[in-house]
Amino acid sequence: MTRNATLTFDGRTIVLPVIEGSEGELALDISELRARTGLITLDPGYGNTGACISKITFIDGEKGILRYRGIPIEQLAKHSTFTETAWLLIHGRLPTRTELAHYRDRLTYHAPLHEAFKHHFEGFLVDAPPMAILSAMVNTLSCFPRHSNEAQPTTEEGEFYEESTRLISKVRTIAAYSYRRSMGLPFIYPDPKLPYIANFLHMMFSMPYEQHIASPEVVDALNLVLLLHADHEQNCSTSTARVVGSSQANLFASCAAAVGALWGPLHGGANVAVLEMLEQIHEGGLSAEQSIKLAKDPKSGFRLMGFGHRVYKNFDPRAVILKEAADKVLGQLGVKDPLLDVARQLEEKALSDPFFIDRKLYPNVDFYSGIIMRAIGIPTNMFTVMFAIGRMPGWIAQWKEQHADGKLKIARPRQIYIGNRRTEYLPIDQRK
Ligand code: ACO
Repeated sequence: MTRNATLTFDGRTIVLPVIEGSEGELALDISELRARTGLITLDPGYGNTGACISKITFIDGEKGILRYRGIPIEQLAKHSTFTETAWLLIHGRLPTRTELAHYRDRLTYHAPLHEAFKHHFEGFLVDAPPMAILSAMVNTLSCFPRHSNEAQPTTEEGEFYEESTRLISKVRTIAAYSYRRSMGLPFIYPDPKLPYIANFLHMMFSMPYEQHIASPEVVDALNLVLLLHADHEQNCSTSTARVVGSSQANLFASCAAAVGALWGPLHGGANVAVLEMLEQIHEGGLSAEQSIKLAKDPKSGFRLMGFGHRVYKNFDPRAVILKEAADKVLGQLGVKDPLLDVARQLEEKALSDPFFIDRKLYPNVDFYSGIIMRAIGIPTNMFTVMFAIGRMPGWIAQWKEQHADGKLKIARPRQIYIGNRRTEYLPIDQRK
């Protein structure tokens, strides 16, 4: 049954179609609103604006549900790996054993960077922020097309399959090299014998004279962190990838722009901000009560980083999984981190405080991810880069979906102008 909504404005009533998603989500289709009424909608921050119709990720923020291609995040966290989940997001279903084996081969094949990349890395100052390097280098991949004599992919999706696999593979090499550059260390080539995550850790931490072989616990923990970040529907960075992609910019340019959007502390940069906050609280000897009091005072300029979410208004299912994982990983590795205790106390106090309850502020994915990454030896300035590696499959899947139906529409919002009305140009000698 088709559903409609009516809108009355200036004595005239129009009927607008209501679109229903497969989970019963409803949206008012206003695509003809302006043509029929002269009105536009105003929604700063797009909190109530659906920018696309998508089959990739479902979130119910009230119920704390997150599913990739219909599969609950809890099941993927338990049974899947980051590379399998990447395939699922990008290609729409779980891969067969043969498809997954082929994917892993191609990821290994694409891991090395063209030697000319080294010159680009060397141009950065030693302490350049790794997110700046990552964004620049992802964009630079556009300048290095695949060689025409490379073995052709064996799936029907052909060129896109290979390009997207190349990006998923190379982003981890670029990430590791950006860290090596920031430390003034020599670059370590990928090892074709190592799988995706172990290979990344090898490129990060091996020395020319000593190979770093990560323990299975560390590999599993990083797998989980990356998998939980792999997509989150139309968040700030994904929307950026879609906006850039909407102008027919290529996949690499679109994902490089998404890296920039992810960098900020209100989005992916929150994982660094959380750790810095926990350190400050710990080193400053602040109690959980004092910290919560500060966070509630709008004049203090202090927010509880890793708390609150635009979409989740009950709990973030990724935070629940990571809280449990933090306990397990730290236990397995024998790491005692006082910051984990600080985080637990903050969470406990905040969750029973009316300010946080009324505003529906709960720990988000970033609250515990930093503690896990710290425990497995990832340096703080690489946290947001890790998020970017994790989110890459999501950006790619969304870019692909946007281009798939052949109806690409350039993103071009409107505005309500509140500036000067017509004003005459004043020659410079008449200006005061
Ligand atoms: N600490 C204290 N107060 C907060 C927090 C917080 N972390 N988050 C929101 N609030 C308060 C605001 O001050 C505001 O209060 P008011 O109504 O009295 O003015 C109210 O809650 C609503 O906050 P908004 O900023 O309007 O909520 P919005 O949905 O726009 O923002 C956001 C969501 C950006 C995530 C916000 O909660 C925040 O800044 N959190 C901390 C940063 C963070 O953890 N970001 C990571 C998000 S998850 C991700 O990107 C992976």
